[in-house]
Amino acid sequence: MTAVLVTGATGTVGRHLVRQLIDAGHEVRALTRNPANATAALPPEAKVFTGDLAAPAGLAEALDGVTAVHLTPFEGNASELVDAIVRAGARRVTVMWAGFSGAMEEAVRSSGMDWTFIQPMEFMSNMAEWAESVRLEGVAREVYPQVRNASVHPADIAAVTARALTEDGHAGKAYDLTGPEALTVPEKVAVLSAALGKQIRFVELPEAEARDRMRAKGVAEEDIDFVLGWHANPPKEAYTVTPVIEEVTGRPARTFAQWAAENADAFR
Ligand SMILES: NC(=O)c1ccc[n+]([C@@H]2O[C@H](COP(=O)([O-])OP(=O)(O)OC[C@H]3O[C@@H](n4cnc5c(N)ncnc54)[C@H](OP(=O)(O)O)[C@@H]3O)[C@@H](O)[C@H]2O)c1
Repeated sequence: MTAVLVTGATGTVGRHLVRQLIDAGHEVRALTRNPANATAALPPEAKVFTGDLAAPAGLAEALDGVTAVHLTPFEGNASELVDAIVRAGARRVTVMWAGFSGAMEEAVRSSGMDWTFIQPMEFMSNMAEWAESVRLEGVAREVYPQVRNASVHPADIAAVTARALTEDGHAGKAYDLTGPEALTVPEKVAVLSAALGKQIRFVELPEAEARDRMRAKGVAEEDIDFVLGWHANPPKEAYTVTPVIEEVTGRPARTFAQWAAENADAFR
């Protein structure tokens, strides 16, 4: 058995990761800054620890005796955090990127631990942003509709991460994770319409309006630039399907139709 500390446990990918590791029989510790919110969101088998990645001194108890750690992106001193993980004796670490490699990847590379970088392209769950307007108006609004993205199911990101945390053979690898098909926005809307059994109307969102919407949610200006720039002109990795999910997990990558069927109720 492996004792795994999952950071980002309350997040989109983290919840799947916690569930999958528990189902595979591993001891799971779930880190959160807000245990009151987290307890309801996490399975009872997960042991919840309160802590902030930006304050590694407070993670000693959560790290004590772990064999592997999953790291979610955060704002703070990456090398201080990685030192604390090494001191605790963890042997494996997975690092989720925020769309680019940064200080965390650098610190982990020189840590002596077995590391695996998890590099997913657009999450299918981003399309949950359309849920409210689909429910209220039957409309999905999105910027840059003709750009293709090979969006990936969060459960598949978790499945690859779980393997890397608990099996040999993944050390020193950077896994670019995509779904099985590169779809335009109207193609995704059509798939979602089929799952709902109801025609959703697609409306192109002007870039200025997309920017205003993100500002209203409190997204920082530089993050807005990054996200819009990425969507306007994605790197080829974003629309080039990779076989990594099937190679690592032995199962085909989940389709957008599967995600739409699983999440249809949120759009009704
Ligand atoms: N959406 C996409 O298309 C996409 C694509 C590629 C990469 N990514 C990256 O993937 C990452 C994970 O995304 P997600 O959607 O699964 O996560 P999410 O739902 O945005 O949740 C973020 C998670 O990170 C934790 N967290 C944040 N700062 C922390 C800190 N200082 N200390 C401890 N925990 C902290 C939060 O925990 P608590 O709030 O419980 O403390 C929460 O569980 C994101 O960072 C994102 O940049 C996203």
